[in-house]
Amino acid sequence: MTEPIDFLLSRTSMKLVTSPAPSDEDLARILQAAMAAPDHGALQPWRFKIIRGEAIKKFADFSIALRQKSDTPFKPEKEAATRAWLSEVPMIIAVACHIDYGNTAISETERVLATGAGVTNILNAAYMLGYGAFWSTGIATYIDEFQSGLGFDSLDYRFMGFIAIGTPKMAIPQKKRPDYTQFVQEWTEPQDV
Ligand SMILES: Cc1cc2nc3c(=O)[nH]c(=O)nc-3n(C[C@H](O)[C@H](O)[C@H](O)COP(=O)(O)O)c2cc1C
Repeated sequence: MTEPIDFLLSRTSMKLVTSPAPSDEDLARILQAAMAAPDHGALQPWRFKIIRGEAIKKFADFSIALRQKSDTPFKPEKEAATRAWLSEVPMIIAVACHIDYGNTAISETERVLATGAGVTNILNAAYMLGYGAFWSTGIATYIDEFQSGLGFDSLDYRFMGFIAIGTPKMAIPQKKRPDYTQFVQEWTEPQDV
């Protein structure tokens, strides 16, 4: 039997997904997992837009058109590859963080961290339920018109990219992860500065 910790230890992103998208019941569990993220002040800053069906093609056309008008347009091969990828993706969850400038007690950084933690919970839940999921800040993520076109006015929201989610097109390959000890030290007392 797979223990919950084994899912966390083996979670891997999967960009290549196809239909079916998560069922409504699974999508509800995946999104509910985001609500369990750590959240300073219980501000619930995470916002999500579900994009599926016909809307995926509109997302592709809209995002790629903006990218092609930008200072860094895709080369024709990259545009074709992006269109081909999105043509198979059955669901996208666009992610934004709500910035409440009236609340000065908890910084924008902390809200963004909470939203990112929510996305991590989404990725973990999707993986546990057998879906492939991939967080991207590609295509037109950093173009203002894109975020406002998705309904996230840049005055009030920080757009944080989108998650492609669906049925993995192949077995999700397992990755060799770094040994955590490279990144961890024991701290015992203040260091001389
Ligand atoms: C905030 C964020 C944005 C990302 N944006 C992209 C992206 O635009 N393109 C990309 O190839 N990978 C992007 N990634 C990385 C992938 O989502 C994924 O983590 C990476 O391919 C490594 O796979 P792994 O999650 O299985 O380790 C992003 C990750 C994060 C956390």
